[in-house]
Parts: sequence; structure tokens; C-alpha cells
Amino acid sequence: MDIVVSNRVARISPGAAVTGGLAAALVPAVQKSGVVWFGASGRVRRLAPDVFPLVRVEPHGRGSVATVDLPEQHHAGYYEGFANSVLWPLLHSRGDLVRQAPADYASYCAVNAFMGRTLAGFGGPNSTYWIHDYHFLNLARDLRRLGVTGKIGFFLHTPWPARRMMTQLPQARRIAEAMLDYDLIGFQTDDDRANFADFLAHELGLAPIGATFNSARGACRLVTFPIGIDAQEFANTAQAAAADPEVQRLRATYSGCTLMIGVDRIDYSKGLAQRIHALDRLIARHPALKRHLAMLQIAVPSRSSIDAYRTLQRDLAGLVGTVNGRHSEIDWAPIHYVNKCYDRSVLAGFYRSAAVGLVTPLRDGMNLVAKEYVAAQNPDDPGVLVLSKYAGAACELEAALTVDPYDVDAIAHRIASALSMPRAERRERWQSMMNGLLQHSIHAWFADFMQELKLPRRNVLPLASARRRAPVRTGSARDQALASHS
Ligand code: UDP
Ligand code: G6P
Repeated sequence: MDIVVSNRVARISPGAAVTGGLAAALVPAVQKSGVVWFGASGRVRRLAPDVFPLVRVEPHGRGSVATVDLPEQHHAGYYEGFANSVLWPLLHSRGDLVRQAPADYASYCAVNAFMGRTLAGFGGPNSTYWIHDYHFLNLARDLRRLGVTGKIGFFLHTPWPARRMMTQLPQARRIAEAMLDYDLIGFQTDDDRANFADFLAHELGLAPIGATFNSARGACRLVTFPIGIDAQEFANTAQAAAADPEVQRLRATYSGCTLMIGVDRIDYSKGLAQRIHALDRLIARHPALKRHLAMLQIAVPSRSSIDAYRTLQRDLAGLVGTVNGRHSEIDWAPIHYVNKCYDRSVLAGFYRSAAVGLVTPLRDGMNLVAKEYVAAQNPDDPGVLVLSKYAGAACELEAALTVDPYDVDAIAHRIASALSMPRAERRERWQSMMNGLLQHSIHAWFADFMQELKLPRRNVLPLASARRRAPVRTGSARDQALASHS
């Protein structure tokens, strides 16, 4: 059996919107490939350790979705705690936002171990497991301890930051060491892969053989595997969305006005405040744009049980109010701010209605919105993508207008260039990006990773002959003490 694992899985109910790029990407891949997608049900339960949890399985296209309730006593420490208040900020190079409570890592390990037991019981020792994202970094080690001998792969949807960032984390070496139990680890970009390899080399003292690192158990290979979308299907959806009542209402509201669009979860990695400041500055400098330019910002509330996210949601609402208050006319406001999640069949029509797509994260593993915006455009009269150079998507979408997302003036300048770009240039840039998207579909990504995972091991020398060198200790004395006890 082939089993794909992630914390968040698709909502099964028809028409329900999915949250986040991981789930959005896996929905069509699971539907077409026929694998089992295993994840958290979104509910918690007090579970006795010796009782095998109930697994609900529902069909999902050719595949199925299997969900399990997570242990109540560990869920907060795992999800709000270690995963989203420690790992997420670190992986996005925001060490200043890390908040670690003493028991969080123990809860993270307990949920990984719980998932390991459940998966091993569900899939057995010979299944192929493909684990997704930072919620389950330790899962291969748990599965191996339980006697799983089949291939286990991992894909990181977020960035992996520079070594100095990760060494802030006392448990980082222990986690990286456990990750060597994966047979194959995929990253969004070469930089992410290189940063992880650098961590293994300098913090664990391991020397790679090609792209493979040996560990006590075997060999772990690192690959760059940028995730794609089904661009043709998305283009068809965007065209069909013209008939959707919400898309028609949007177009009627902004007829005679150039519309720009941003679509993001409310997350500090997305650069939302800088984007709003850029629009503020642009209109202040070019008041003639009033009543002729507006930005639709779909800002989906996310992880609202975490302080940093609640604060951001409140601050952004205040900032939007300030900027709208400053520039609005009786029949026009510059920012149309919507805090709800739309189905992709409607979203596709919104993208197509917008002459500029604003994707300006401060750091992002890939950013699927950037790819979706391109795929949704009308080939005859496509919009322009303004894209952060710190989104993984910038490595592929080279014909976008790239920008430093911290530089508010530069964003304003890029928007102005997008607004005045001649149609011939827009078409040329769009065609080049669309060609790339069509060549690297989500289905090819999924099938190629699975195929790579199942390949017999190559280029591996026995551990004894692998060159090891002394780790370079760069963390604090406390980190070093913790690492030496791991
Ligand atoms: N999305 C959606 N409805 C919305 C807003 C977003 O379905 O109202 C989807 C969007 O189409 C994209 C995903 O959420 O596929 C966001 O992925 P991305 O990689 O851009 O960011 P993430 O949220 O994973 O950080
Ligand atoms: C990002 C992460 C995913 C996560 C998604 C939504 O895309 O890479 O793993 O599912 O955000 O976040 P949430 O915490 O709501 O699942």
C-alpha cells in the first residue's frame, strides 16, 4: 500500500474549501493516483495508550482519505506549540517569534509516536510511506522503531533556513539525526536542500556521498522537487468561473477600475503589512489612481489560537482601516479586504479578473497562489505577476516582476511597472511562465517522487567507510549539552 501522510488533509464534504498549499496540492494528486492519504481528523480525543485508535476511511477519487483523532493531552503542545510556535517561525527565518513551552517538544514527540503506531498498524511494515511537512519530522524514526522496513519519504513544503537559524533550536540536531531515517527527503528549492545538507555536515559532522548521507540505519538522499499545480485544469476552471455569480459581482463592482489581487492566509510570513504600505505609498504619490485602481485582498484567518496570529489579524485589520480611511472617496476604497476562504473554482475567476497578482511573502516554501494566478490568466490579455524573490516560486517563475518584499518603495514601483506594461510584453512573460507550469504538473511531481522513493538504493557506501568529521558546535552551551544527551 502507498500511504501519504500529513497533519491537514482535504475536507471531504463537497464544496468545502481547503486550507493551505499542502492540502490544495495533494487533493488532485490523491484523487488521480489512488493512494491513501492519512492525517488528522481535526478532532482530539483522550486515548488510552494500549487502545488502537479508530481510523475513518472515505473514498477520494481513485484514492481515499483516512483520518484519526489526535491525543487530546498532547495536541496543543504539538500543533500550537512546537509545530507552529517553534518550527514554523524558525523555518521561515523568524527566530524572534519562537515561543517554546517546556513540554511542547515532548508533546510533539508523543504525537509523532502516536501517528507512527497508528500508521504501522494501519499500513503494516511493507507499505511505502510518504510523510509531508514539519509536523512529522520525527515520524520515520518512530516507524523504523516499530519494524517498518518499506521505503519512507519526506517532503518539506516550507523553506529550510540557514544553519545559524536552526542552531537556535536546542532539539535541532536530534531532529536532523532522526530525519536521516527517511530514504528520500524532498525540498522546494536548491537553497533549502543546500541549507539542510550544510546543517548535516556542520552540526552532525556527516559528509555526503553525492546527494546521499549515510546514517546508522542506511542512506538518506536529498533532492530538490519543486511542487507544481495542474495548470491546464486551473486554466479551464478560471475560464468557466466567468459564469459564477460571485465572480460576476466582483467584475461588476470593479468595471472601469484596474483590479489587483492578493490571496494569503493571515500569516506573518506573507508580507501583508508591507504590501498594504506599498499601496498606501503608491496612491499617495499618484493620487490620479484614485477610483481607477483597487486591491482585492483575500486574507484567510489562520491558526487563530496562537497569539502571534491573533495579533497579526487585529493589526492588519487596523492597517487596512487606516489606509482606506486615508484615501477613500464616497464611491471607492483602495483595499477590498475579505477574511474568508473561497473555493478554488471561484478563486480562479477572481484571479482572472485581476490585472495584477501581488504575491509578496517575506519567506515562502513555494507559494501556489503565484502559480495559480498565472494559470488563471486570459492568454490574450494576461495580468502581471509581482512576485517576492523570497518565494520558492521565484526560482521557476522567472518572467514575473520580482521584488524585495521588505522594500515598500520597490513594491510600489513594481506595481506601477505592472500597470503600465504593454500587452505584448505581458503576453510574452505569461507564455514563458505558463509553459513552465504546464511542464511541471502536480501529477508529474507526485508520480516522480513516488518513483524516486521506490528506486533501489544507489551510490551508498557502508557506514564504516563513510567519512565522518567532528561536528562544528555553533549553538549555545545549553544546546550542546542537550545535543550530547540526545
Ligand atoms: N486558497 C483557497 N481559498 C482561499 C484562499 C486560498 O482555496 O480563499 C488556496 C489557494 O488556492 C492555494 C492555497 O490555498 O492553493 C494556498 O497555498 P500557498 O502555497 O499559496 O500558501 P500556504 O497557505 O500554503 O502558505
Ligand atoms: C502551510 C503548511 C501546511 C499547512 C498549511 C495551513 O501550507 O506548509 O502544512 O497545512 O500551511 O496551515 P494549518 O496550520 O491551517 O494546517
